[in-house]
Order: sequence, then C-alpha cells, then structure tokens
Amino acid sequence: MLKTLGKQIKEFKKDSIMTPIFMILEVIMETLIPLLMGSIIDDGVEKGDMRHIFLMGGLMLVFAVVGLFAGIMGGKYGARASTGFARNLREAMYANIQTFSFANIDKFSTAGLVTRMTTDVTNLQNAYQMILRMCIRAPFSLIIAMAASFLISARIASIYLIAVVLLGIVLMVIVKFAMKYFSQLFEKYDALNASTQENIAAVRVVKAFVREDHEINKFKKASEAVYNLGVRAEKMVILNSPFMQFTVYTCILLISWVGAHMIVVGDLSTGNLSTLLSYCMNILSNLMMLSMVFVMITMSMASARRICEVLNEEASIQNPENPEMEVKDGSIRFDHVTFRYNENSETPVLDDINLEIASGETIGILGGTGSSKTSLVNLISRLYDVSQGHVYVGGKDVREYDLEVLRNQVSVVLQKNVLFSGTILENLRWGDENATEEDCRRACRLACADEFIDKMPEGYNTYIEQGGSNVSGGQKQRLCIARALLKKPKILILDDSTSAVDTATDAKIRKAFAEEIPNTTKLIIAQRISSIEHADRIIVMHNGRVDAVGTHEELLQSNNIYREVYEAQTGGNGDFDENGGEL
Ligand SMILES: Nc1ncnc2c1ncn2[C@@H]1O[C@H](COP(=O)(O)OP(=O)(O)OP(=O)(O)O)[C@@H](O)[C@H]1O
Ligand SMILES: [Mg+2]
Repeated sequence: MLKTLGKQIKEFKKDSIMTPIFMILEVIMETLIPLLMGSIIDDGVEKGDMRHIFLMGGLMLVFAVVGLFAGIMGGKYGARASTGFARNLREAMYANIQTFSFANIDKFSTAGLVTRMTTDVTNLQNAYQMILRMCIRAPFSLIIAMAASFLISARIASIYLIAVVLLGIVLMVIVKFAMKYFSQLFEKYDALNASTQENIAAVRVVKAFVREDHEINKFKKASEAVYNLGVRAEKMVILNSPFMQFTVYTCILLISWVGAHMIVVGDLSTGNLSTLLSYCMNILSNLMMLSMVFVMITMSMASARRICEVLNEEASIQNPENPEMEVKDGSIRFDHVTFRYNENSETPVLDDINLEIASGETIGILGGTGSSKTSLVNLISRLYDVSQGHVYVGGKDVREYDLEVLRNQVSVVLQKNVLFSGTILENLRWGDENATEEDCRRACRLACADEFIDKMPEGYNTYIEQGGSNVSGGQKQRLCIARALLKKPKILILDDSTSAVDTATDAKIRKAFAEEIPNTTKLIIAQRISSIEHADRIIVMHNGRVDAVGTHEELLQSNNIYREVYEAQTGGNGDFDENGGEL
C-alpha cells in the first residue's frame, strides 16, 4: 500500500521533506522564546537592567518572526505536497478506471468509485498534510520542551512527566472509542453517497412513480445514521478538551505551588518558573495534537485501502503482446463458447455456443429477456472475455487483435446507450474524430436521424444535455446508431437499438442498411419479429443456448418459440397488429 501511494507522492518529495524541516525550525523558535522570557524576568526586570530587557526583547522579536516565517513556509510546502498528492491520486485512479473492462466495472459500483475519487481522496489529503506538519513537529516539540524543562528543574519537570503519562492514557482510551465510531461512520457515508447518486441519476423515475416521499425518507434515514454516529464520535473527541484543560490547570497549580516554595528557598528563579509554565502548555498541547494525528491516520487508513484497491486493480482485458492490427473481414465464428460473469457461478450464462456467420450476412437474434442475447454479442467486441472456447472475427481469435482495432471494426450500439453533453456533431464524432460534417450527415441519413435533426432550430449544432435528456428515446437510439455507423465498421451490432423507433422508421433504417452498407455484417437483436424477419438468418436464443438458427420461413415451420412469438405479435393471422407488433 505504501508503495502504491508513494508513487503518487514522489513528484512532491521536496515539498514533503521541506514541510517537517520548517516545522522543526518553528518548534526551535517556540522553545527559545520562553527561555528569553525567563531571562528578561531574571536578568532584566529583577536586576533593573533595561539594556538586557531591550536586547532580549529584540531577540524575541527576531525569533518570533523567524518562527512565523517557518510556520508559513511549512504550511505552504505542506499544502502543496498534500494537494499535489491528492491530484496525482485522482488522476492515477481516473486513468486506471479508463482501462477497466466491463468485468472490472461490475466489481466496483459506480457510487463506490465516485466516493473513492472524492471523499476518500480528501480524507487522505487531509491526513497527509497533518502527518507532514505534525508527525515530526509534535513529538519533537514535546521532547525538546521536556528536555529543556529537566535542565531547568528536574523536580518540576517530573510533574509534567506524570501528567503526560496520565493524559496519554486518557487520550488513548478516547481515541480508541472514537475510532470505533469513525470507522462505522465511513461505512454509513458510503450508503449515503450510494443513495444520493442513485436517486439523483434516476430522479425522473422517482417522479414518474411518485416515490419522492419514500426517497426522502430513505435519504433521511441514511443521513440520520451519519448524524448519530458523527455526534457520538465527536462527543468522544470533544472529551479531549476538558481532560486536557483539567490536566493543564492542575499542572499549572502544582508547578506554581512547588515553584513558589522553591523560589522562596532560592532553588528556582522567577524567570525560570515563567519559562516552565510556558513549556507546560507547550508539552500538553503537543500531546493532544499527537492524539489527533493518531485519530486522523487511523481514520484515513480505510480510505487509503479503498484508494489502493482502485489503483492496483488490473484491467481484466488487456492488449496481447504482438497484436493483430487488421481485421480481414466481418465473418464471426463461435467455437464451443461458454461464458460466466462470475467465475464461481454454477450455471453459465452462455452454454456451449457454436455459430458461424459469414461476412456481410444480416443476422437477427431473438429470445426472451434474460436469454443472454446481450451477453452473446458482447463477446464479439471483447467487452467481456469468454470463459471457455473461442470467438473468431475475420478468422482470428478476438484475443489476438489490438483492442482499439477490434472495437473500431466491431461497432456496437449498446442496449443501455448514452449520449454525452455536447452538440449533436460532437456526439457523432465519438464514432470517428475526423468525420467531416458530410460524413456525419450521411450516417444520420442511414440511421433516419436526419429528419428530426433538420427540424431542430440549430440542426447539427443542437446541444444535447447530459444523458441525452432533451431528445426522445427513439431519437436517441437513432443518434446512437449513426454514431456507431461513423466508425465504418466491418461488423455492426444493434442490441435492441430500434425498440423505441416506430415500425415505419425501423423498416426505413433496415432498407438503408441493406442498400448502403451491404458488405457490413449486421447483427440485430430485437423483440419485434418485424425487425428481423427479412434477415438472412435468425438465431433464437433460449436460456443461454442457441435454440435454432434459420430463415423466417424455416423457423416458422420448425421452431416453437419463434412461432409462438410470431403468433403473439400478429394475432395469429400473419399481419402485424396496429401496434406495429410491439409486445
Ligand atoms: N454484468 C452482469 N453481471 C452479472 N450477471 C449479468 C450481467 N449482465 C447480465 N447478467 C445475467 O446474465 C443473464 C443474461 O443476461 P443478458 O443481458 O445477456 O440477457 P438478454 O437476453 O440481453 O436480456 P434482455 O432481452 O432483457 O436484454 C441474465 O440472467 C442476467 O441476470
Ligand atoms: Mg439484452
């Protein structure tokens, strides 16, 4: 863990070293000032030596300024090191998340990744700053003040020693209890973040189902839990202060009492007593500081662990060593393919699939929900890797290709697709950065998106809101198809991508595909028979297996599932009903 984090600190090594150095300088100044104060009282005030008072006073001023400067510089370097560390952490996490495969993303939830990149990084940043500033400063200051006190008067200094030990024990107990609450608190934060993220992202669904009150209550509960634990943890921490005050004032009383006796018999000077009293404050406040550092470090350990998990996560799908850089054609072959999302699950999601698809063929895929249609096509562009068997594209195993090359040639319109905030043109150019406006228009024509884009006041420069919330479901699907077409792929996969498009437009899109991109292999997953009946062949999926493969007519004759779906959608008379055959 230290190695992983150390890599991100390396850039700020200088700042990380300068901070404690300046903090130590500050401590030295802080320790010298009470000594000068004692000298002013003993050698200046008591002997009536004004020159000495001015000299020492001047020196005090110089030390104070140096101390102030050291404090400021320490703060500056500390801030730079810790914020820089946080920046590097975030960037490294973000970069690593980009390499994640779908399987990696399944492992961490989105909310989890967001918490890790925000709250956890901030925790670690604060802890690191505290460590740099206090971890050396506090013990150093404590020891040096203690040593100086022993030099002045061992008898009085032993009072501190007892106080330090007693207070130390009390602080440890407090920290232990507080820690317990703090670690519970962080778990609750996760729940709170998850609930916030989920609800805000799905706010439209919440409204549609009039679930606002329910959601408010749910959030209130999560928020209340954070509040309760927060109060309990802080209650423990706040106990620090009265114990500290009690010890400090007891010490001051004892020191004054013992000191006064010693002054009377001439064992101690007044100035030395004042110096000792300053050190008393110094020592005990540093002890408290140390206990706080301890709390912060332990608190940030959980965050550090969660951050390292993301940083050390290796992408489960990687480029091969000598990747194949060209996809010969759009042929696809599944050879005894078995696939599970979770290695340990008993029943596979895809079970012994064998398929052969020629380049340029149009294939329809039909099957009930959960019959593994999406899982099947996701293997072709290597969004997931097979558990057993091989998937060949253009005659070569997909694992031999360079990932980028493969994914540029196998263009998928995902079932859960999204548009990003930006203009329509910008969104389309996700398919091909260098596409000209003419290319974009052509792709939109093929996907029948041109008709509604032209009607928009700003045409191709219309701004799409986050998640594509200002276009309709069918319009969004058509834009996603156009975006996929711009890649000029050898294989085009549409995963239920025209489900929200009316049947007439759907037919128009299919016609355009057949005429304009005849050499592209097209895999069309659909629930509507009308969307796939003209395909060269249709694959019927059932429970993770291929139930049948054939043309529309063949399947109507021989396949029960297909016939049932057909009859349900046409009312048994061969004509699709006025709903366009929608289920
Ligand atoms: N990311 C995932 N992690 C674990 N299991 C998954 C994941 N995605 C899908 N599954 C499971 O795999 C099975 C097949 O799902 P898949 O999405 O392939 O079905 P589908 O045929 O595409 O269904 P639909 O028509 O509803 O889109 C389902 O039982 C589902 O629960
Ligand atoms: Mg699906």
